[in-house]
Amino acid sequence: MIRRVAILISGGGSNMVRLVDSMTGDHPARPVLVLSNVARAAGLDHAASRQVPVATLPHTDFADRAGFEAALHDRLCAAGAEAICLAGFMRILTPDFVSRWQGRMLNIHPSLLPRYPGRDTHARAIAAGDAEAGCSVHEVTAKLDAGPILGQVRVPVRADDTPARLASRVLTTEHRLYPAVLRRWANGCRDPLLLP
Ligand code: GRF
Repeated sequence: MIRRVAILISGGGSNMVRLVDSMTGDHPARPVLVLSNVARAAGLDHAASRQVPVATLPHTDFADRAGFEAALHDRLCAAGAEAICLAGFMRILTPDFVSRWQGRMLNIHPSLLPRYPGRDTHARAIAAGDAEAGCSVHEVTAKLDAGPILGQVRVPVRADDTPARLASRVLTTEHRLYPAVLRRWANGCRDPLLLP
């Protein structure tokens, strides 16, 4: 069972807020740290107002990725984190860091993986003429956006969709999916969750 979760963000943190707000009552886990690699990320204020410890660790303060990740690992350990949720964290983590947290790190991605790892997922889905887009929560492995899928929500693509419109509908489904997957996963369940 996972009891202590750190959440890494780079921006607005709307998924982080849903995760934090979900970790109450009989949920096995509690948020122990929200950390941003961007100093003024709006999500930091949302976390602080919920009495969650916050930290900033600008990657620009470090000469290389190894230095940044060593400091990140130390901060996570100092907070007693047992697991990490990436929630709009816009840094690619090296295999070395991932291996230290393998099986203990989740990510949410705005596509129906394995389709469209990486960026611009909504524009790519529209350009391909896909009938459905969606979001996925997966375990993080060394290969980008390719770890075991723990949950998905499908979202119909509309004829008049723009990437921004589709992104906004997908984001509302992310807010349902990520807390639901985290709760199960923290309780030891690895079966994929397919929400309507
Ligand atoms: C979400 O679309 C998530 O899937 C992606 O980055 C975005 C973060 O949004 N990884 P927010 O910061 O949680 O609002």
